[in-house]
Amino acid sequence: MGRAAAPPGLRPFLPADTPLLAELFRESVETLAAEDYDEDQRAAWAAAADDEAAFAQKLAGALTLVASLDGEIAGFASLRDNTRLDMLYVHPRAARRGVGAALTDALEKLAQARGAREISVDASDAARDFFAARGYVPYQRNTRELRGEWLGNTTMKKTLDEKAQAR
Ligand SMILES: CC(C)(COP(=O)(O)OP(=O)(O)OC[C@H]1O[C@@H](n2cnc3c(N)ncnc32)[C@H](O)[C@@H]1OP(=O)(O)O)[C@@H](O)C(=O)NCCC(=O)NCCS
Repeated sequence: MGRAAAPPGLRPFLPADTPLLAELFRESVETLAAEDYDEDQRAAWAAAADDEAAFAQKLAGALTLVASLDGEIAGFASLRDNTRLDMLYVHPRAARRGVGAALTDALEKLAQARGAREISVDASDAARDFFAARGYVPYQRNTRELRGEWLGNTTMKKTLDEKAQAR
């Protein structure tokens, strides 16, 4: 699908976004990670949003941005400890329209403006190419257990532009 005429709009997370973001999270994992993780793995991953209060706390405890496209919430991302991209999820209907890039761009700029020299992400196998295209370099391979399922991911890091930091 081509790029939307208007770029995604970004705003900070609000607690009232939680139910919509939980649903978006589940659909993103279910659909966009289907080539890289089997059904049981995706179910274990998506279950992280089942406890909505805990999910809301996780989003509120980080710097979380929400992206909208054509007036609808299309994705969200969060930055933890100013150095770690903790979550990045785009709704399947908005995939490949620049939402993930806009969210990542904004969080990289915020991290940089707050003094971070490097940003890291435990990238899912579904997001590896996305991060590689944005200049993230693979650093180490991990496996983590979630509800009895083993899921692989890759820690990837990007050095933030030092010149921009001085501006
Ligand atoms: C990874 C993800 C966030 C990408 O979001 P997106 O909004 O579709 O990405 P964008 O449209 O901004 O893509 C920007 C560029 O990244 C690259 N890219 C994005 N998705 C890609 C994919 N699946 N395969 C290869 N390259 C990809 C492309 O270069 C793309 O540019 P192009 O569309 O002009 O070719 C989205 O697919 C997603 O939510 N995946 C499931 C959840 C997940 O794994 N999250 C990451 C947790 S660490």
